[in-house]
Amino acid sequence: MKSAGVFPLRLGLAGLGTVGAGLVRLLDQNADWIRRRVGRDIVLKTVLVRDLAKPRDARLDPDTVLTTRPADLVVDPDIDIVVELMGGTGAAFDLIHSALAAGKHVVTANKALLAERGPELFALARAKGLGLSYEASVAGAIPIVQALKESLAANRIVSLLGILNGTANYILTKMTGKGLDFREALHKAQAKGYAEADPTLDIEGLDAAHKLVLLIRLAYGENYPLARLPVEGITSVTPLDIRFAAEFGYTIKLIGQVKRVDGRLEAGVFPMLVHGDYLLASVQGAFNAIRVEGDASGPMLFHGKGAGGLPTASAVMADVMALGRAGHCPNNTGFLEDPLPEADILDSDEAVCRHFIRFNVEDRAGVMAAISRVMGEEGVSIFQAVQKGDPETGFVPIVFLTHAAPVRAVRRVIEAVGRMSFLRPPTVHYRVL
Ligand code: NAP
Ligand code: HSE
Repeated sequence: MKSAGVFPLRLGLAGLGTVGAGLVRLLDQNADWIRRRVGRDIVLKTVLVRDLAKPRDARLDPDTVLTTRPADLVVDPDIDIVVELMGGTGAAFDLIHSALAAGKHVVTANKALLAERGPELFALARAKGLGLSYEASVAGAIPIVQALKESLAANRIVSLLGILNGTANYILTKMTGKGLDFREALHKAQAKGYAEADPTLDIEGLDAAHKLVLLIRLAYGENYPLARLPVEGITSVTPLDIRFAAEFGYTIKLIGQVKRVDGRLEAGVFPMLVHGDYLLASVQGAFNAIRVEGDASGPMLFHGKGAGGLPTASAVMADVMALGRAGHCPNNTGFLEDPLPEADILDSDEAVCRHFIRFNVEDRAGVMAAISRVMGEEGVSIFQAVQKGDPETGFVPIVFLTHAAPVRAVRRVIEAVGRMSFLRPPTVHYRVL
């Protein structure tokens, strides 16, 4: 197909790493298809990187300029949209802020930045009547931002939960299925390009937390400060706990969740036991999945590739193409209020759920009775229990699966048992979905 006759849409791309290179590839491989849908050519005019000499996989058009100066994107009057795929919260903030101030639409995949400083940038975009689009920042290729902002806009969202970090899910999948240890599985995830430049964001649950904060804004129209979100990562998940969970019929997944409880938002990111019967338990590798329940729509599950160059570029291009077509003021947050009201937050310890608790104890008479007594005193009812003897060490893991109980009560049980002489730390506690 020949070039469209109308003027092209010109992009300034910041970042030519995993996602940036994916974008270049997608623009190249589907150019005709994209032109047919947008009605214009999409041209990559300038690309910002840190290091001009770095060897790159991306095949750039000879007319595309490679630069290390952000101003070459921001000041250039020929650039219509700045696509920010650098990551980080410093230079990326400056670039997006100055691009919006200069009257350019922005597309970004940067959930860390939007979770931490989104309100400032959305306010500026709104004041300028510009698009600040971020489909790629949550769950890679899965169109969850658009779904919450537009397709489910009439619904009150009852609950939203899911697997929001591909790297963590890949690591847990490899630990569960192949028996790899944590470090081996992390290295594989990094080699595949799933992990963030700083993988602690993935394994400590922060990347999932960034995404959850964005999803809460979209689903509930409330600003849930990142600093108040309870977050636990997967670094302490052991093959032993994965095996115990499997004995009970569960798999361990890193879950981000939010629900409305008596008017307040209960939210957090935790490694959780997910029963094998749930669809989420079968989400493998770097795939993400998000279960959303709307009051009118009922429950639905979004499942797809949450990371990687092409899948993420697919979402970036959806935003670019929407802005290329738009003739009206873009809908960035899905709500008319600016700023969004602060969330009324339910304290994490007040949450009620079932629990997995593993104590490591001396193998002697009265231990099980002592633990059971404390659990009874705190109103934590045992659903199942397993003890595995080890004649070599004299210590045994005792694992409890409980009925629903407040997190606060379980913390008190763990503290009380922690003071007993037969206990050898660490005690492991996970919530059950
Ligand atoms: P990446 O592979 O580390 O690439 C980052 C790129 O940005 C590199 O080309 C780097 O230049 C450039 N860059 C970084 N800081 C810069 C600066 N201060 N000035 C100029 N250029 C700079 O990152 P990525 O994995 O593609 O991720 C990009 C963004 O997408 C992040 O916000 C990430 O959270 C998000 N995201 C990633 C994925 C994924 O699967 N990777 C999925 C969804 C969202 P050099 O090449 O010269 O070093
Ligand atoms: N590091 C992220 C992940 C990339 O593993 O899910 C996608 O946001």
